[in-house]
Amino acid sequence: MKIENKVEGSINAQESIMPQSKQPVKLSFNDIEFEIPIAHNITNSEGKNVKTVIRQKIVKGCSGYALPGQTTYIMGSSGAGKTSLLNILSDRVSSSGDCQGNSDCK
Ligand SMILES: Nc1ncnc2c1ncn2[C@@H]1O[C@H](COP(=O)(O)OP(=O)(O)O)[C@@H](O)[C@H]1O
Ligand SMILES: [Mg+2]
Repeated sequence: MKIENKVEGSINAQESIMPQSKQPVKLSFNDIEFEIPIAHNITNSEGKNVKTVIRQKIVKGCSGYALPGQTTYIMGSSGAGKTSLLNILSDRVSSSGDCQGNSDCK
């Protein structure tokens, strides 16, 4: 997954489309990791089908920032973890997941 920041157009053009926020904030995040339990059916040594829960990391060491007045792109193939990262940053992760790392808004 790749995070890119880009200034779109001139500052004046930008302001006419999107008025400047009264409290612009910079969002930064560092080394975000997200792990979820996934149930798998495996065959044990006796040939029986058993359910096992394996913890799988779906966001690995992800860092980046988003500046006010700039467009930030999150790019990656389907399943790369883009939606999961946005859910973590907006505090919408499911309680079954285990999230690590830190983010800051200032
Ligand atoms: N709650 C969940 N339980 C099981 N698998 C999940 C869960 N959330 C995401 N995944 C899996 O994690 C991977 C990343 O998903 P996602 O963040 O939606 O990727 P993207 O938005 O980049 O397509 C996918 O393989 C998805 O199936
Ligand atoms: Mg998605």
